Amino acid sequence: MTENAIEMENLTKKFGDFTAVDKLSLNIKKGKIFGFLGPNGAGKSTTIRMLCTLSNPTSGSAKIAGYDLIKDPSKVRENIGLVAEKMIMYDTLTAAENLRFFGKLYRIPKQKLEDRIDEMLELVNMQEWKHTQIDKFSTGMKQRINVIRALLPEPEIIFMDEPTLGLDPQTTYSIRDITREINRSGVTVILTTHAMIEAEVLSDRVAIIDHGKIAALDTPQNLKKLIAESDVSIFGAEITNLTPKLIEKINSLDVVDAVAQQDDHNLKISANGTEALNQIIDIIRHEDGNIASITKSNETTLEDVFLAVTGKEIRDQATGKAASTPHMDGEAPKSRIR
Ligand SMILES: Nc1ncnc2c1ncn2[C@@H]1O[C@H](COP(=O)(O)OP(=O)(O)OP(=O)(O)O)[C@@H](O)[C@H]1O
Ligand SMILES: [Mg+2]
Repeated sequence: MTENAIEMENLTKKFGDFTAVDKLSLNIKKGKIFGFLGPNGAGKSTTIRMLCTLSNPTSGSAKIAGYDLIKDPSKVRENIGLVAEKMIMYDTLTAAENLRFFGKLYRIPKQKLEDRIDEMLELVNMQEWKHTQIDKFSTGMKQRINVIRALLPEPEIIFMDEPTLGLDPQTTYSIRDITREINRSGVTVILTTHAMIEAEVLSDRVAIIDHGKIAALDTPQNLKKLIAESDVSIFGAEITNLTPKLIEKINSLDVVDAVAQQDDHNLKISANGTEALNQIIDIIRHEDGNIASITKSNETTLEDVFLAVTGKEIRDQATGKAASTPHMDGEAPKSRIR
């Protein structure tokens, strides 16, 4: 038996002329938590949908739990669970009824299903809510039921597509704990998230994907080391009168790789070279920006890596496609690390 839970070879998905996933080749080891990061529209969900047999690849191949995606889709389905981007749940049914409904779809024998439902409710600390209708639940409680729904058939691999999106901090922590617990029980976890800290604290390895391709792939620690050893600097700038125009001006500097707005006054700027700081200060002053503080971060985070790798192109959420591309077609962002 192979030690890989998932093997992808040149996995590709095209929608018309548009390539959403571009010859992705990647192995994911059994028993690990693997993080998929990438800007909006990078192709994360499309990849997951293909690996879950919900969407046919245009070309390429993949093995999931040892089974070929194309030749053996039903075997693949027997070995996976999916926590999709959108929750699938019936509001008028109770927690137990929902779980029973999906358990029957998986053809789990009756008594086994009942035992499994109790075991799973216990895992997420929801036993006392077993007979409560789902529409009485908070989003976090629904998500916990949604997660265990995917675990009912005891899958070898679970895909979790942005499982903490829209959850409050407490529930986010609890979903992360549950994710660790699931993994400790031997299940391989494939996770997508926009929360860098989540990827960092949970994942054994992460792939940053951009335009359907792998832009970086390593352990979070190694990725951070790569940045620390490169000539990329990450600055934090607090500007009291921050405007979109000012952000655009900073972004347009050659030395700047990416700008991420943290809140109304704070920016995180990824830049290259020794002259970067002077140029950033000059342009802010030139645009009448009031600088409250500028700091150079000493400790690299996964977000810094993400910014440096995916560059300053802003993605259009509506279409998921890149908007106002400042670099030429086909050209990689300047500071791409591999
Ligand atoms: N059914 C479809 N038809 C046409 N284009 C699609 C379809 N599904 C996805 N796309 C496009 O493929 C690209 C990748 O989408 P995908 O949903 O995989 O991105 P993502 O990385 O999951 O992004 P997000 O972080 O926003 O969830 C996007 O440009 C999207 O618009
Ligand atoms: Mg997605």
